[in-house]
Amino acid sequence: MNETLKTIESLRTVRSFSERDIPDEKLSRILNSCVKAASASARQTYSIIVVDDKSVMKEIGYTGNKMLVFCVDYNRIADTAEFLGYQFSYQEAVSDFVTGSTDTVLAAQTAAIAAKSLGIDSLFTNCLHRGNIDRIYKLLNLAEKYCFPLIALILGYADESKLKTTGKGRLSGPGVIHYGKYHRLKEEEINNIVLEYDAVEKHYLSLIAGWRDKGYGHYLDYFYEVWCGFLKRDGENETKRKIQDQYPEVEKVLVKAGFLREM
Ligand SMILES: Cc1cc2nc3c(=O)[nH]c(=O)nc-3n(C[C@H](O)[C@H](O)[C@H](O)COP(=O)(O)O)c2cc1C
Repeated sequence: MNETLKTIESLRTVRSFSERDIPDEKLSRILNSCVKAASASARQTYSIIVVDDKSVMKEIGYTGNKMLVFCVDYNRIADTAEFLGYQFSYQEAVSDFVTGSTDTVLAAQTAAIAAKSLGIDSLFTNCLHRGNIDRIYKLLNLAEKYCFPLIALILGYADESKLKTTGKGRLSGPGVIHYGKYHRLKEEEINNIVLEYDAVEKHYLSLIAGWRDKGYGHYLDYFYEVWCGFLKRDGENETKRKIQDQYPEVEKVLVKAGFLREM
């Protein structure tokens, strides 16, 4: 396996970081590398906020050595157009958001890979969207219009003594990879997926690794019922559980930012 594949295969989510600082030159390497990701018309419709202040990180949701907040952002492009005397138009609000998000996540994932290649671990989090999203705009001084904090990437050196992750669970067969044409899964293939999720060595979602001790038949029973809060169709649990809306404001903020039209 070559070094690039080894780096990609060794990517892991780390939730406990040591006190060790990321040297400035390594952070610069990560930032300079991540902007090399492909971007529609080479516009780079994102801004990356580098957060160093632990109290700000904590208020956002998680701490590490550094936090990179990747925002879909058209302001730089619009301001530059205005500067040159052009009227920038946001006619295609939703498609601008989709394309901008694609630019943004490609840069974010490239940052995670670049960091890993330098021995630095990471945690992606969408905690930005939990609860009051205005807090993120205020904390980071984000532009209200045409800017949306999409994903945060926490970087740092892992505290190996606290690491819980033991494996890398990912599906890579039917239902994920479709050769030639899209193939809707048949019942037997779905059953195989349910069993694949149960395999101990797969260790799918490290956060809920203890599902087996809680008396659930399958990992996915635990996942859908406890993690997602879904109800069973037979109605057995109907009164017990309600889906929690952890992200009540995303749509409202996208409208406010100009990426969605009000219905
Ligand atoms: C969009 C996105 C949001 C995520 N949000 C969180 C989060 O809020 N908290 C967390 O602990 N992990 C979060 N993760 C990390 C995933 O839980 C993690 O990638 C998954 O459990 C697989 O673990 P692995 O990366 O070690 O293979 C997020 C990952 C992505 C891509």
